[in-house]
Amino acid sequence: MHYIALATICLWASGVYAAPAEPKYLSTDDLPKCPIDADHAGECIKLIMNELIPRLRLGDPELGIEPYDPLVIDRLSFQYSSGAVNGKISVRNVKLYGFAEHKIKDVNVKVKGDKVKLRTVSEIPKMNILGDYKAELQVNSLQLKPKGTFNLTLSDVENRVIMDGEIYTKDGLRFLRLKDIEANPTVRDLTIKANGIFGDPELDELALSVANNYWRDIYGIILPETRQSWAPVMLRLINEALQHMPIDQFIQSPK
Ligand SMILES: *[C@@H]1O[C@H](CO)[C@@H](O)[C@H](O)[C@H]1NC(C)=O
Repeated sequence: MHYIALATICLWASGVYAAPAEPKYLSTDDLPKCPIDADHAGECIKLIMNELIPRLRLGDPELGIEPYDPLVIDRLSFQYSSGAVNGKISVRNVKLYGFAEHKIKDVNVKVKGDKVKLRTVSEIPKMNILGDYKAELQVNSLQLKPKGTFNLTLSDVENRVIMDGEIYTKDGLRFLRLKDIEANPTVRDLTIKANGIFGDPELDELALSVANNYWRDIYGIILPETRQSWAPVMLRLINEALQHMPIDQFIQSPK
């Protein structure tokens, strides 16, 4: 019996029985500290976000941050229904390029008890979205099953985001957890490139020129349709990172 105890002590002392790793938190020594009054913290939070967005683009596994430029989405599918076109579209291996160029223009924070409402306005000058697609479409009486790759180029994306969250305490530190995210991106211009629509290059070209003329209508349908797919992904990504960012280290200590 006491050999086992001794062996245990030896192992312990030699560090084999390491205690569970301490959670790693974002180091904020070089970041500004924001006013304690949330109404005046917007400008300061904007500076911090604009500092961190390009810095963390490659992700940091210890901080629970996945690389986000490109941001990879395994799969997403949605119904499309507008006028003569109805059907289901699925996309896979989607890569979104440009998130690290995100510039936050405006931040507004409201805090009430442990409830937080955060509104941001941001801009991305240029985005590329690449991936594989597969669709089953009914166009009037025509049945189509296109399949191929696509490449969307978006310019001047302006994004208005409203986030609802709550403050909670863990290990004596305060953190923010988001409950809901609502995004309303608008795009100045969008170019759609794709192959495999009809399997005939000339017809594909024709279909794309139609799609490129009507992209505002297409976009207006796809964005809300896909919200239930991308909103939980965004929430999960942001919340994983927030678990490593105790909020008090961003706030000036009371005088
Ligand atoms: C996607 O399209 C853009 C704009 O036409 C182009 O610059 C980029 O190289 C394309 N990417 C791929 C992987 O084809």
